[in-house]
Formats: sequence, C-alpha cells, structure tokens
Amino acid sequence: MSAHAVSRYHLEPGGSIAGELRVPGDKSISHRALMLGGIAEGTTEVSGFLASEDCLATLAALEALGVAIERPERERVIVRGAGLDGLRAPSRPLDMGNAGTAMRLFMGLLAGRPFDSTLIGDASLMRRPMERVAVPLRQMGARITTENGRPPVRIEGGQPLHAIDYDLPVASAQVKSAILLAGLTASGETRVTEPAPTRDHTERMLAAFGVRVDRRGATAALAGGQRLRATRIEVPSDFSSAAFFLVAGCLAARSGLTLRGVGINPPRTGLIEILRAMGADIRVRPRIERTASGEPAADIEVHASALRGIEVPRALVPLAIDEFPVFFIAAACAEGDTLVRGAEELRVKETDRLAAMAEGLGRLGVEHELLPDGLKVRGRGGFRGGTVDSHGDHRIAMAFAIASLRAEAPIEVLDVANVATSFPGFVEIARGAGVPIEAA
Ligand code: S3P
Repeated sequence: MSAHAVSRYHLEPGGSIAGELRVPGDKSISHRALMLGGIAEGTTEVSGFLASEDCLATLAALEALGVAIERPERERVIVRGAGLDGLRAPSRPLDMGNAGTAMRLFMGLLAGRPFDSTLIGDASLMRRPMERVAVPLRQMGARITTENGRPPVRIEGGQPLHAIDYDLPVASAQVKSAILLAGLTASGETRVTEPAPTRDHTERMLAAFGVRVDRRGATAALAGGQRLRATRIEVPSDFSSAAFFLVAGCLAARSGLTLRGVGINPPRTGLIEILRAMGADIRVRPRIERTASGEPAADIEVHASALRGIEVPRALVPLAIDEFPVFFIAAACAEGDTLVRGAEELRVKETDRLAAMAEGLGRLGVEHELLPDGLKVRGRGGFRGGTVDSHGDHRIAMAFAIASLRAEAPIEVLDVANVATSFPGFVEIARGAGVPIEAA
C-alpha cells in the first residue's frame, strides 16, 4: 500500500457528469505485457502501462526472477527479456499482493521452470481458489501444491511438461492463459476449450510476440517450444475502469461524456450491451487501427437516459464479469426490477462481490434479494445516504462512489485503499468529471 493510501471516500449527493476523459491503461494487458516481455528475446517497450499496485506486483516478481526492467516514465516500461529459459530462481516467495491475475498466470509461467517457486499474496488473495489452475497444470506434469486449494502455491521445479487438451470447467481467462503459458514449454500442442468466450488478451499478445496460436471455434491451440520475439506494446485504456464512468454517464451526463481510447476486446464489453438493453444511450466510435498489441480500441460517448430494469441474459454474464459492482448501481437507479443469475463467479473475486454489493445496497435503502448465483435489485431511481463498507475491494469502493450521483444525502465508502490496485488517480478523474468526491 502506498504512503498516500486513503481509507475512505466522502461523497456529496448529486453532481452532474460532463466533458471527456481518459482512464488509465488496461490491467489485464499490462500484466501480460510484462510477463511476455520478460520471457521474450530482446527488448520490449510498453506504453500506456497501468502503474497500479497489481501490475507493479507483477513487475517486482519478474525482477525477482532476474528480468531487468526500467521505467523511464510512469506509464512507459522497458523490459529486457530474459528468454524462456533465462528466468532464475527467486530468493524469496513471490508476493502478488491483491492480484489474482498475476498469481494464476505466474503459475503457468513457472510450472515448467528448472527451479522451485512459491507464490503468496495479501489477505484477500490468500483466500482465493487456485486449484482451478493447479489441476490442469498437474495434468501437464507440473508438481504444484496449495493449502486447501488456496495460496501459498508451491511449484516444484524441474518437471518436464507435456501438452494437454483441456475443457475449462469455468469460463476463466486466467485459467486459459495459465495453461497456454505452460504450453509454451510443454512438448506437443496444448489445446484449451472454453465453455463461453473469455477475454483473449493472452492469445492476441502471444501473436504480437511472434507465437502462433490457432483459434478453432472455442479452442485455442499452441505448439510448445515456440520462442517469443520482443515487440512494442501499446496498452489501451481499461474498459473495466471506463465502466464506472459509463454508468456515471448513464446516470448524470445530461450533455454527454466521452471516454477516449478505451480497449474494446469483445469479451470485455458485455456491459455496453446490457446497459443498452436497459435503455442507455451509448455510442461507440472504434478507432481504425488496432493498438500495437493487436487490441481494438474506441472512443465511447454516453448520454444520461432513463434506465429500465431487465433480466440480464446469462450469456452476457462472463462478458461483463468485472463490471457487476457498478452495474448493480445502475440497476438500483432504473425503473423496475433487475435480475442477474449465473454469476456465482462473483463470489470468488477480490471479495464475495454478490454479498458485498447486497450489503451496501441495503445500507443505501435499496431493496434486493441475494441469490446463490446472483442478485435481484429493485430499482428505486436512486439511493438514501449512508455508510458502506467496500470490504477492501477496489471495484466495490468505486461502484458506491458512483452511486452518490443519484443519492439523497452524503455517502461514505470505507476501506478504499485498494482502489490503487487497479485505478490510480480515480479520485482526481472522478472529481474532474463531476463526481463530488473527497478522499480522507
Ligand atoms: C482476468 C480474468 C478474469 C477477470 C480478472 C482479470 C484476466 O478473471 O475477472 O479481473 O486478466 O485474465 P477469471 O479468469 O477468473 O474470470
């Protein structure tokens, strides 16, 4: 946690959103740029890097594995690739902080190395399930132990890996990515089939590093033994950070709000479809060229509009999985009930996001019903004032900050320091857009 960590937000009710803004770089892509740069041959330059605590944990872990990294500017990183065989044994456990993506992708990256490694994290990460990654990696020949399925994760070095053909039991980009990264050192062709589309940043970025990844329907396949060639990576703005302002715009941008240069990888943008189905006015203007890492980006314009409650189609849930905290804020402001089912994955994120959102909505006077795999929210047009606990979850904290735009009295959000794991500068950007927020 940084020395400037804040612990709570105070939000005055109301406020109107306007203008244009750019949110910081994509978290998923920033982790991957560092990791692939670290195992590539040559020097990779990353621009638009997300300088958040999660991505800095990945950066520190790579340094501990012997990769030389410079950061000439806050958002520009130079990675001197060690090559796939060039990583060396870390002298201590690798601390992933709050970052589930870092831990799961490193499991895949470290499974085939000649040395032992141990992965640990903060209190939230130490409670999160890791067997979903350990199980397929063991099938590839890795020796990995967890404690009751949770970190610390211990990886024994010197195990030769072989390819597998794996059907993912959950739609998880992290598990898919870990298997593909392990597949780079495995003998044979590794294949991963997903039950529903998940973000394909790993596949796109491997291709940018010169690795051939074949996509056959729902299956991604990669032959082991391919080398990565260093490249230049431009990281677009994070759709999941933009999502807070997309909802803010739906609630309070009477003259419109424009979000610049946002990554629109299709399995990330389900929130746009869901909000449109509720009546939102969202216009997406794709940029013509893809970024250097093969990712599409767009300017997104949103105008305030009256929202109606809907039943969210289950097929859209994995495509908006990180956006549900702020989506439930939109649902509370809509007219009528909104129902989300098939979202049990939300229970194993940085916190149990179904329980944390239900608790906070209740504190702000929103009727709801907590379900094992979802939440039903009774739209009431807005919120009472009150105090909500984010339970140390960055996205819960930011979601309730946005709620203030439609509140009748001030809102206090507690335990907000972890916003720095994904969205440094959130308070300043939110205030600039018109959210009446103070950090203390
Ligand atoms: C991520 C995948 C998703 C997402 C997380 C980032 C990634 O997790 O929730 O914030 O970068 O691959 P799952 O793979 O567990 O769905």
